[in-house]
Amino acid sequence: MDKKLKLGIIGLGTVGQGVVKVLSPFDDIEIVGAAVKNLSKKRDVEIKCLTDNPFDLANNVDIDVIVEVAGGLGVYDVLKTAIKNKKHIVTANKELLARHGSELFDLARENDVIIMYEAAVAGGIPIIYPIKSSLSANSFSSVAGILNGTTNYILTKMEEDNLSYHDCLLKAQELGYAETDPTGDVEGYDAMYKIAILSNIAFNKRIDIDKIYREGISNISSLDMKLADEFGYKIKLIALSKKMNDLSGNECLDIRVHPMLVSKNKSLADIKNATNAVMLDGFPVGEVMFVGAGAGEFPTASSVVGDILTIKSEFNSNGEILPMTVCHHSDYANQINIEDTINCYYLRIKAANTPGTIGKIGLACGKYNINLSCILQKGVNDDRSATIIVITEECYEKDINLMIKDVEQTSEVRVLNRIRVM
Ligand code: HSE
Repeated sequence: MDKKLKLGIIGLGTVGQGVVKVLSPFDDIEIVGAAVKNLSKKRDVEIKCLTDNPFDLANNVDIDVIVEVAGGLGVYDVLKTAIKNKKHIVTANKELLARHGSELFDLARENDVIIMYEAAVAGGIPIIYPIKSSLSANSFSSVAGILNGTTNYILTKMEEDNLSYHDCLLKAQELGYAETDPTGDVEGYDAMYKIAILSNIAFNKRIDIDKIYREGISNISSLDMKLADEFGYKIKLIALSKKMNDLSGNECLDIRVHPMLVSKNKSLADIKNATNAVMLDGFPVGEVMFVGAGAGEFPTASSVVGDILTIKSEFNSNGEILPMTVCHHSDYANQINIEDTINCYYLRIKAANTPGTIGKIGLACGKYNINLSCILQKGVNDDRSATIIVITEECYEKDINLMIKDVEQTSEVRVLNRIRVM
């Protein structure tokens, strides 16, 4: 019989317990021990050897693979120790990989071990390994997706139940989607880590997350939702990464996370509640979309255990590392600044209802070479102000910013929200 694969698990929260449950039928895999913060906490699963010091696992000579499902940056040194001790790593830790992936992958290469991280992006959706294997013939032009379930749940609720952002956030917290401090999800950090990881493998470049533009959903109002709907759009938090040329003609990557008005004709507009979706555009495959559960005990455990079994199958062969699992690239992407990106924009404007106001908005757009697709005044408000909606054709972000500054200076016009359009 094959040698048993021996695991040390760091973290026995929802995902960790799911991993233990999903592993139970696999007789050729043994959990040697698990590291937890609180040794006396009641859990659904029993592990024979619990420790509150994860270094015990990283230094245990009996362990072949460290499964890290604790999250956060605190495990960085533990994983480095484990790699130096020649242990393979399976991790769901998007923040750690997005911030310190380069150092960890270099160290893994030096020590002939691999790092598998299917669960780090879009939970149960298989996306990392498919990009590296089944889709490896492709040259990708873009990756775009809904990578955060909490924000997609909040936006879906706002749209379907006509509720405010704050009411929907409270609902998401009651249901356990959003944390007590929801910043990581609602301000787009979680999606930013995930698009950094996807960009890294789709474009074979290292990514500097400090250069990724990020904007969350807390500025979206139910009025924006309603207006977007009237114009044929849904509002979604979109993470995207696309190849383009900068003004000097050099190839670069445009990577960002922000809310977008997504046309109802596009498949991403149909992704509801906590579901995630990743859309890739490449040659020769064309467009492909992966949809499924982006979080949760069993969907995430599916990806973690899939990685463990991939390592297990490698163990039984001639001992060489599968080329698909190794990180090959070492140069950084040339990441474009948000000011230099090109987008269509939705503007919700509050203005004095005076003769010539729409003319002034039109003139300001013309001054910065911004072509309009739509301009509409929605009647007159009780306070005699006007709500004016503008949707532009494609223009540079720096031009729309100049136009907004200009129009807000020259008349009683306030741009209350500006959302990019997909
Ligand atoms: N908090 C994430 C989400 C799941 O809401 O999608 C884990 O990445």
